[in-house]
Amino acid sequence: MSGDSSKTFYLETFGCQMNVHDSEKVVGTLLQEGYRQVETVEEADLVLYNTCSIRDKAEQKVFNRLSDYKKYKKQGKTFGVLGCVAQQEGEKIFERAPYVSLVAGSASYRKLPEMLRQLEEAESAARETAGENAGLRDDASVVVTAGKSGVKSGSRKPEAESLVRITGLDDRETEDCFETEFTARTNPHRGYITIIEGCDKFCSYCVVPYTRGKERSRTSDSVLAEARQMADLGYTEIQLLGQNVNSYKDPAGKPGGDFRKTKTFAELLAAVGEIPGIRRVRFTTSHPRDFGHDIIDAIDAVPTLCDHVHLPVQSGSTRLLDAMQRLYTRDQYLERIAWMKSAKRPISITTDVIVGFPGETEADFNETLGLLDEVSYDAVFSFKYSPRPNTPSLSLEDAIPDEEKARRLDVLMTRQREIQTASYKRYIGTTCEVMVEGRNEARGQWIGRTSHNKTLNFTVPAIATPRVGNYVSVIVTSSFPNSLVGELVV
Ligand code: 5AD
Ligand code: SF4
Repeated sequence: MSGDSSKTFYLETFGCQMNVHDSEKVVGTLLQEGYRQVETVEEADLVLYNTCSIRDKAEQKVFNRLSDYKKYKKQGKTFGVLGCVAQQEGEKIFERAPYVSLVAGSASYRKLPEMLRQLEEAESAARETAGENAGLRDDASVVVTAGKSGVKSGSRKPEAESLVRITGLDDRETEDCFETEFTARTNPHRGYITIIEGCDKFCSYCVVPYTRGKERSRTSDSVLAEARQMADLGYTEIQLLGQNVNSYKDPAGKPGGDFRKTKTFAELLAAVGEIPGIRRVRFTTSHPRDFGHDIIDAIDAVPTLCDHVHLPVQSGSTRLLDAMQRLYTRDQYLERIAWMKSAKRPISITTDVIVGFPGETEADFNETLGLLDEVSYDAVFSFKYSPRPNTPSLSLEDAIPDEEKARRLDVLMTRQREIQTASYKRYIGTTCEVMVEGRNEARGQWIGRTSHNKTLNFTVPAIATPRVGNYVSVIVTSSFPNSLVGELVV
């Protein structure tokens, strides 16, 4: 399709930061291939959904979206499903949503330009074949898998069925990382860089190792080159991304690589923080089992490394952590928390929790509540357990009724709200540096983000006009459980 700037695409993203960043790379790739991005499905020739399957609700959202747009297929639009649902469901998507033409998991995005070209060629071939056979049959279709295509005929298909089927699916064998120079970042001040893709942890409830493939790290050289390039473009904040950044392994250390250039995750983190122009470096997500003290040492040594760590715990009960195959105990988790609490700067700690995992008793749940009190997190993202395809815990009976899961979730969120109400109050009277993120006209406030990753909304005197992307000092005057309020210091 290269060169035809009239071809338009619409891309909607579901799910985590990895998906958001993958979409930035997909958009960059499509623009490079000559497509133009549009804001609505109506205007688009190609409609793409970058999907999430972490919980059943997320997956259902995707299928609802696809069924909404059945009607558009009649207008000649092409539909593609990318991301975790694509990888998880594979060719079954063509059965559930027969008007879809492209199904590709994240481990095959490197082949996206090739797949897009195949898609166009196959669609025009299918149209021709259907045309030639007009009056005889209207069931011609082209199936393309891993670079091969062919015209297929079969029984008469429903009107909305796609003529073309292209798949890019991973078999957990790929060594590919989706590295591209054409990333279309949406924010000009802070941006993501993927350092590791996939996951080899296989927590018993989690679909990610099956949807995002095996762990593969980028070389620290290539990460640093991208970070320097971003600094040259004016970015001041970088967020290093991976399902488990702590298991980063520089491929320069592999046979044939340059050993002298090998960096551990903590060394890479520090090196990104030392790039001139970079003022903030964040990283997500961490796994307690692989989280080393060297990360705290790096935060202590390099002031640009943000004083915030997201360390998902999932449960406060060692018995449940074992059933979840998390590979650490409550005490080992708390040891990592103690490291953070003895750092030179106060580190803000956030976490993820699952309630209602099979076999979770009231006592297990109470241990999780006790952990919240003990750690005093700055934010907790909590979820009801959702059984996922392929995962080991699918074989356990999902015996806790949804109402009970909902009750536990509610109790947990109420407890956490109390904790945050008290802890956020402690900031009143202190001065924080924030990056200006935007303005809330309705409230007459500017929106800022602290190094701790807290939202700090602030007012400014008439003489001052902050600029988005700038760093300013704000004195905190009041607090809510999830945000702070303050005034610009001039
Ligand atoms: N059910 C509920 N929550 C889940 N998570 C991952 N898998 C599941 C599941 N099957 C949560 C975990 C993880 C976060 C990204 O999503 O808490 O850290
Ligand atoms: Fe899923 Fe566990 Fe891997 Fe995180 S570490 S992506 S929860 S399997």
